[in-house]
Amino acid sequence: MVRIITIASGKGGVGKTTITANLGIALSQQNQRVLVVDSDVAMANLSLLLGMQSSPITLHDVLLGESNVHDAIYEGPGGIHFIPSGLSIESYRRVDPERLEAVIREVADSYDFVLLDAPAGIEKSVMASLAAADEILLITMPNSPSVADVLKTKIVAQRIGSNPIGVILNFLRGEKGEISDEDIMKMLELPIYGMIPYDPEVRKSFMQENVAPVIIRKPESPASVAINKMAAKLSGVSVEMQPVKKKKEGFFARLFGFFKRKKKADAEEIKKETE
Ligand SMILES: Nc1ncnc2c1ncn2[C@@H]1O[C@H](COP(=O)(O)OP(=O)(O)OP(=O)(O)O)[C@@H](O)[C@H]1O
Ligand SMILES: [Mg+2]
Repeated sequence: MVRIITIASGKGGVGKTTITANLGIALSQQNQRVLVVDSDVAMANLSLLLGMQSSPITLHDVLLGESNVHDAIYEGPGGIHFIPSGLSIESYRRVDPERLEAVIREVADSYDFVLLDAPAGIEKSVMASLAAADEILLITMPNSPSVADVLKTKIVAQRIGSNPIGVILNFLRGEKGEISDEDIMKMLELPIYGMIPYDPEVRKSFMQENVAPVIIRKPESPASVAINKMAAKLSGVSVEMQPVKKKKEGFFARLFGFFKRKKKADAEEIKKETE
């Protein structure tokens, strides 16, 4: 049975595209049939990361009803299949993101995993990316603005009937002041699916002459190892909630209290926005 998973965040730039590409390749290397979809219809970056920006037929053409989805599927690096988004602003303006779910369902059954790279925020195209999946993996950095925004994405996803299954922490540097994984689990009420360290090798993916995701270029680098671990959890072992140790009331415990109080108000606000 296929698992359709959208990789989403609240804030931009937290690593959705990076994780989607590398996780897709890692799953494929673990003998899973994987389709990776660039559902960021406005700011398509995934094809750049995969070195496939010249693919002639894109998701834009499919969402415009001008091409068949099967013609927009390409063979990508590491054995993945890939649907690129379009780079044209003009066609972006005309696409109807609400058709995404039907498009994905049309091809999903040929795969074990379909991974969608969502845009940031909670705009219409984000909603469409969330609605197209059964499961949502949320990405956040270990700081309060990033966690606060991903909480909104979680609430929106639940409201439209998708199931947030866990959270991926990215850009971990082990610095003082980072919110701990335990506190993030408590705030978001979700298990941690992956903990990806800050890794300069990841950033180099766009900077090489031959662009390639880190998992192919440097499979032994810390981020690649963490992503492979996450892929193994997804493709096999079921993920257990990590034990939460008791901590004395500090800044983050107080922040957590704030989140709990804000949650209801936020849910109400988002409900209004999305109606
Ligand atoms: N673990 C990491 N270590 C170092 N750099 C990283 C890591 N994860 C992502 N990056 C870098 O951070 C930048 C933003 O990543 P990415 O484009 O994947 O984020 P995004 O969430 O998809 O952004 P957007 O919201 O704009 O779509 C990229 O330059 C990427 O190489
Ligand atoms: Mg992106």
